[in-house]
Amino acid sequence: MDKKTALITGASKGIGVELAQIFAENGCNLVLIARSADLLDQLKRRFESEYSTTVYTIVKDLTLSSSAKEVYDEVVDKNIKIDYLVNNAGFGDYGEFVETAWDRYEKMIALNITPGKGNQPAKFLMSLQQLLFNPDQ
Ligand SMILES: NC(=O)c1ccc[n+]([C@@H]2O[C@H](COP(=O)([O-])OP(=O)(O)OC[C@H]3O[C@@H](n4cnc5c(N)ncnc54)[C@H](OP(=O)(O)O)[C@@H]3O)[C@@H](O)[C@H]2O)c1
Repeated sequence: MDKKTALITGASKGIGVELAQIFAENGCNLVLIARSADLLDQLKRRFESEYSTTVYTIVKDLTLSSSAKEVYDEVVDKNIKIDYLVNNAGFGDYGEFVETAWDRYEKMIALNITPGKGNQPAKFLMSLQQLLFNPDQ
C-alpha cells in the first residue's frame, strides 16, 4: 500500500518536529517547511535513517504572499500527493507589553493571526488547502 504523506509547516523545531516524528513513526512520508535550511536538512537525515520514510524539505518564509503557490508548485514538481496538512508555523512572546519591540509584534500578528491581507498563514493555509486538495476548482 502507498505511504501517506504529511506536509508540516514550522517543522524545523519545537512542536513541528514532534509532529513530524509522530507522522514518521506511523509510516508517513514528510514534506517539512521552515526558513532554516540547515535544521531541515538535519531532520531529513535523521528521519530517513531512523524510519523507512522519504523526507522532502522546502525552505520558505511563509509571511511572503507568494509562499502558498510556491509550496504548491514544488509539491507538484516533485509529484507528491499530500494526505495530511499541518499548518503549525508561528511564534509567541511574553513579558511586559511596553518593553517588547513592536516590529516583533507586527511579525507575530502577520504570521499567526491576520487573515486575508495577502501574506498571512490563515490565507496561506486556505490557499494551500485549495491548491492541494481541490486544484481544479
Ligand atoms: N509552545 C507553546 O507553548 C505554544 C502555545 C500556543 C501556541 N503555540 C503555537 O504552536 C506553533 C508551534 O510552536 P513552537 O513552540 O513549536 O514554536 P517554535 O519552536 O518557535 O517553532 C516555530 C516554527 O515555525 C517556523 N517559522 C517561524 N516563522 C516562520 C516563517 N516566517 N516562515 C516559515 N516558518 C516559520 C520556525 O522555523 P524557522 O525559524 O526555521 O522558520 C519553527 O519551525 C506556533 O504556531 C505557536 O504559535 C505554541
